[in-house]
Amino acid sequence: MRSTATIGTSAILLALTYLGFVSAQTFQRLGTCPSLGCVFPPDQTEFLAGQLFDIRLEVHAPVNGSEASSGGVPDENFTFCIQSGKGGCQDVTKYFQVQDSSIEKWSFSYYEDLFAKDAGTPIVVNVASKAYRALSLSKPGAYTAKLVYNGGFQTVANWVVREPATRRKAKNVLFFIGDGMTQPMITAARLIAHKSINGKYQSLMQMDQMEALGHQMTHSIDSFITDSANSATALYTGKKSTVNTLNVWADSSANSLDDPKVETIAELFRRHIGGALGIVSTAYIADATPAALCAHTRDRGQYVTVVTEYLTSAEAVNSTFAWPTSCKQPDVIFGGGAEQFFPGRGSPNGTDYYQAFRDKGYNVVLSNTELQATSSKAKTLGIFSVGNLAKWIDRNVLKENLKGQRNSPTGDGTDALDQPGLKEMTLKAIDILQARTKRNEGWFMMSEAASIDKMMHALDYDRALGELLELDDTIRASIAHLKKIGELDNTLIVVTADHGHGFDVFGGADTKYLSAQTTDRKKRAAVGTYGESGLSGYTVTEGALPTNNTIVFGAEGPNFPVTWNPRYAYAAGFGANPDRRENYKLHTTGPRLPAVSSPDGYVANPNDNPDGFNAPGTLGPDEGQGVHSLQDVSVFASGPGSEAFRGVYNSIDIFFKIADALALGRTSR
Ligand SMILES: *[C@@H]1O[C@H](CO)[C@@H](O)[C@H](O)[C@H]1NC(C)=O
Ligand SMILES: *[C@@H]1O[C@H](CO)[C@@H](O)[C@H](O)[C@H]1NC(C)=O
Ligand SMILES: *[C@@H]1O[C@H](CO)[C@@H](O)[C@H](O)[C@H]1NC(C)=O
Ligand SMILES: *[C@@H]1O[C@H](CO)[C@@H](O)[C@H](O)[C@H]1NC(C)=O
Ligand SMILES: *[C@@H]1O[C@H](CO)[C@@H](O)[C@H](O)[C@H]1NC(C)=O
Ligand SMILES: [Zn+2]
Repeated sequence: MRSTATIGTSAILLALTYLGFVSAQTFQRLGTCPSLGCVFPPDQTEFLAGQLFDIRLEVHAPVNGSEASSGGVPDENFTFCIQSGKGGCQDVTKYFQVQDSSIEKWSFSYYEDLFAKDAGTPIVVNVASKAYRALSLSKPGAYTAKLVYNGGFQTVANWVVREPATRRKAKNVLFFIGDGMTQPMITAARLIAHKSINGKYQSLMQMDQMEALGHQMTHSIDSFITDSANSATALYTGKKSTVNTLNVWADSSANSLDDPKVETIAELFRRHIGGALGIVSTAYIADATPAALCAHTRDRGQYVTVVTEYLTSAEAVNSTFAWPTSCKQPDVIFGGGAEQFFPGRGSPNGTDYYQAFRDKGYNVVLSNTELQATSSKAKTLGIFSVGNLAKWIDRNVLKENLKGQRNSPTGDGTDALDQPGLKEMTLKAIDILQARTKRNEGWFMMSEAASIDKMMHALDYDRALGELLELDDTIRASIAHLKKIGELDNTLIVVTADHGHGFDVFGGADTKYLSAQTTDRKKRAAVGTYGESGLSGYTVTEGALPTNNTIVFGAEGPNFPVTWNPRYAYAAGFGANPDRRENYKLHTTGPRLPAVSSPDGYVANPNDNPDGFNAPGTLGPDEGQGVHSLQDVSVFASGPGSEAFRGVYNSIDIFFKIADALALGRTSR
């Protein structure tokens, strides 16, 4: 049960007793709205001075269920006022000097709990609402926003406009996100890629060598486990939000484009400084973490909306909710997701969206060769495959796996064999952003190692660690490159994750012995713990080659394993998994598929690790993959402004720290 009176939207206690309050946990009537009056931005919101946002007010009248009220007729005569300092509470229209908006009405339904879902008896809620768009607060300090409804009930939201930094410290910001990356993964990656003698590493990860270390709490606004959309929203806007939302607070209406929006770091950087903007990801480019720099929608699954917003802003999507974005047409967009660009079912109106970008002055590149050859002077769209880009292991070690994918970014059904990795994309992006910084505005780039998360979902630990090592290698190469072009001292580099996965290593496994046993219990005896966990077999070649000795697995030398499938492998577990089979070996034929659907829900895939043992799942039977976990994630930073990243803080603070390094706040007093 939430302690509504103290930390949630502060509804008057009277309202709670009268409602016989049921604090829904599995399902909520509307996150952030425990009473029947809802205010967005909700209680506890903090703003950068001058940051744009929408206000949405809702009054709920549940027709039935434990909160049924007002005969199901929502009060349309609610009032909303804002108070700052000592003055009285001023009506919203006076406070912001805007016209009143008209009442909108809709209804929605939800289940109070799992019993109600089984019984098929949803609660129906009727809603009256108003919205006010594109407002801002530029005076630092505390604000009280008060919704009065149902003849005297109140919902009070406390807002704070933080005192912003006035001196700009960083010219450029290079923001790396290792999606789903946790400290146990970094530790495991170090173990397999860096040689240790008598317990002492002979080399370190680049992340180990950054100037500042902090960690951030990733919770959503209305649930403690986050997804990549609402966590990216927190990192880029300084606002907590709901699962699946991109830069909006989730309202209860069906329309996913009318939710109250908030301005992102990319929009602020463009609007106030006019600097160059780069978006790089190893995911499809409409995926949540890249999308969240520019898009505003309740539903991260609206890929067409996302790519449309990259090009033309929200007006093209629905002018009713026009948002004055300055994010459109980023200087660099590199990633996968060609299905949103070549003519077909996934592209906007089925058109050739590559051409739409060319028409706006973009160079369009579709392979690593074209990427390396293209001019650094023009805005550049680089799309290198259908879906997510190939994984580092498959591009560098198991290249046969690139074949037969039919994922060419041209959409012609051939294979995308010439894909860049995160490093190639990021280094080229630096050159383009640098060339497009005409005066001294600087640039902002987000570079995402997306498939750490995607491969952890698939419980493909080796591929996930390969992606993590590629991220580390990219950070290392970026630092060297920035130094070479004389920009290192001007550039704030921040590396963090958006959430975790419950992965950790607990020992070593003799994969040969495991494979040779015939019962699950004997197979599990192959796992050595403590003194029998052994040493890393990944950084030495002896006895480590696969049966086919001609394949030199990895052979990447420093910073990557020498072999990816030693006999003595690390044994890892996962905090949240479907039924699966484990043998702790590298998946040589492509990413792992741990579970398959059956009439009884997901069961262990019999073709995955057939020589392994059965490990029963911990998740509900409708989950076929691992899911995100609770833990705080690390933040590493170097360069001007990096000292602010030390300590323990909330995900939203990262936005404020970056905004302060760029001095993006705009006050008036
Ligand atoms: C809202 O106010 C109008 C005008 O004062 C009144 O006619 C109407 O009954 C009120 N509606 C409710 C639901 O209180
Ligand atoms: C609430 O009302 C709706 C619509 O009449 C109905 O379908 C639903 O079963 C009711 N829910 C409960 C919990 O009674
Ligand atoms: C825009 O939103 C309004 C209000 O929900 C809706 O009526 C209209 O159909 C939408 N337009 C488009 C083009 O989706
Ligand atoms: C799709 O077509 C409609 C109708 O012709 C047009 O209004 C809209 O702007 C188009 N959308 C995009 C993303 O081009
Ligand atoms: C090992 O694999 C390579 C590459 O697939 C192949 O060319 C070679 O013939 C194989 N060698 C043996 C001994 O099987
Ligand atoms: Zn994920």
